[in-house]
Amino acid sequence: MNYEEFKERVRSGNDIVDVIGRYVDLKKSGANYKGLCPFHNEKTPSFFVMQDGQFYYCHGCHKGGDVFKFLCEYNHMDFPDAVRELAETAGIDVPDKFDYGDAGRIKAGLKNRLRDMYKTAAEFYYKELHSGSGKKALDYLKDRGLTKNTMVAFGLGYAPAGRTALYDHLKGKDFTEEELKESGLFSYKTGGPKDAFFDRVMFPIMNRASKVIAFGGRILGTGDPKYINSPETPIYSKKNNLYGIQRAIAARKERIILVEGYMDVISMHQAGYPETVASLGTALTKEQADIIAKLARKVYLIYDADGPGIQAMRRAIPILKKAGLFVNIVSMKPFKDPDEMIKSEGVDGVEGRIRNADNAIVFELECIASEYDRKDPSENAEFEMKAANMIVELRDRFQREEFIKTVSERFDINKELLTSEVNRIGDETYKEGIIRRKQNPVIRRPEGVGSRIRDGDQGLPDERNVLLALVKNPKIFEQVKGYVSVEDFTTVFLREVADILFDKLNNGGTIQAGEIMSRFDNEEQSDLGRLFSNEMYDASDDRTKSKFVSESLKSMVMRMYDEKSENAPPDEKLRLMKEKNALSDLTIDINPD
Ligand code: CTP
Ligand code: MN
Repeated sequence: MNYEEFKERVRSGNDIVDVIGRYVDLKKSGANYKGLCPFHNEKTPSFFVMQDGQFYYCHGCHKGGDVFKFLCEYNHMDFPDAVRELAETAGIDVPDKFDYGDAGRIKAGLKNRLRDMYKTAAEFYYKELHSGSGKKALDYLKDRGLTKNTMVAFGLGYAPAGRTALYDHLKGKDFTEEELKESGLFSYKTGGPKDAFFDRVMFPIMNRASKVIAFGGRILGTGDPKYINSPETPIYSKKNNLYGIQRAIAARKERIILVEGYMDVISMHQAGYPETVASLGTALTKEQADIIAKLARKVYLIYDADGPGIQAMRRAIPILKKAGLFVNIVSMKPFKDPDEMIKSEGVDGVEGRIRNADNAIVFELECIASEYDRKDPSENAEFEMKAANMIVELRDRFQREEFIKTVSERFDINKELLTSEVNRIGDETYKEGIIRRKQNPVIRRPEGVGSRIRDGDQGLPDERNVLLALVKNPKIFEQVKGYVSVEDFTTVFLREVADILFDKLNNGGTIQAGEIMSRFDNEEQSDLGRLFSNEMYDASDDRTKSKFVSESLKSMVMRMYDEKSENAPPDEKLRLMKEKNALSDLTIDINPD
């Protein structure tokens, strides 16, 4: 068990009302408890302990936090001692493998330690690449046409040939054996720890916040395995990340280009397409499609032109469509991969190919056309039905019309016939469609990425309100997530809170305010105490709460539209204004179904 899990077990094994009740005389007050604040002098109680949320907050001195923080502050205890005491109270065994000697380290939690470790490792590999030992790796990358700038932008590195180079380096940086073991950077198979990556070019994999969370390592030249990748760790899950995402976010383009590999992403970026990302050595996942859908409305697939590449595209298309994306397929024939294509045709060639990309419908029909004998009337009819069904999937009537034209010409299908088939099927699926749309809310936010980060830690009232409502009424998450995502919160702090919250809610869970607080330090805990102890909200009826969330959310999204249109060209401004106006009917129901 890692420390974070342990801490969470201890936290949930102690009711904060019992714990604080041992020190403060608490009286029931509605759903909560109140008493005289132990942290400042007062005659009338303004110190509240929230049983639902498992946290405390004083409206007088504005101190607040979780159960651990209370013990630390009240008893002037160290954090590990508070955890130990509460573990004992709750009858939870304290594993002795935790190092209690260094309070700061434990408090930061394993995840933070691993992030530090990956950062340190990335810096180490980077230095190695640009040192004498990395010369052949550097030559390899230069040979493949990468410029110095590109290598720096992607933080490329070199894992030296020695089998303990990184291990020794990190040991010298004070990481514990336990932490090194959890990192996935070392192999413990054949006696003693050995570096998992050696004599390889290193590709740091970064998350949306540009933090290194994993590595891919490529052999220099040919050999097996070509790539080694970091395993899943507490800070890395393949299915939730995309290679190149941190740069695609910063690029703020209205489309995303999806490719297959590390090298594809890098050469596309170097050619001037920073909106390019790749899944991480696995088939594209639903989670990755959702991430893309938050950034853009259109996605262009540039996969290898070979059999496996085409198969991978056919698997990815429905997943991307389901996430609400318009999917286009860029043809690479006769080249093997984007890297080769760019080298041969240059940037202009790539641009032309993107402009001429096929909509996924045409691509899919082309893939299956050979499976039908079009000279046979019944097989031909089947193929034509398939085409009609695919066109019906398009929600927009004008788009349908356009596709009827393209498909009828390209596949030699009678246009009138196709039109009437599409309309017939369309009518039948119309009702069902409405039901489906209700279950999968249409994403309503401006295209492009996130809000700008603002000064000041506390964020804006509307976004704080949305977080409050999500914690108190997690059922609204399904509705809310159609409008905002983590990147839409405007301070680093609120993004962290939203990240924890969205992560939990996405997996169908709920979360207590106290659990969120436990992930933060003193000052931040107090601020969260203020955020989550809103008596007005608690005292309101469902209608008022619904109105409160709806207005807050609307204000957030409207601001996103305003920011977006600041620098937009006039016709774009008009379109954004129309979309923004359509938001006036935004309503969130606090009690859906
Ligand atoms: N991959 C992997 N393990 C392998 C081979 C491939 O994890 N043994 C993943 C990597 O993420 C790789 C992607 O699949 O980037 C695509 O593979 P491939 O096209 O073979 O690699 P490229 O990135 O194109 O690398 P290169 O151009 O150097 O061959
Ligand atoms: Mn490739």
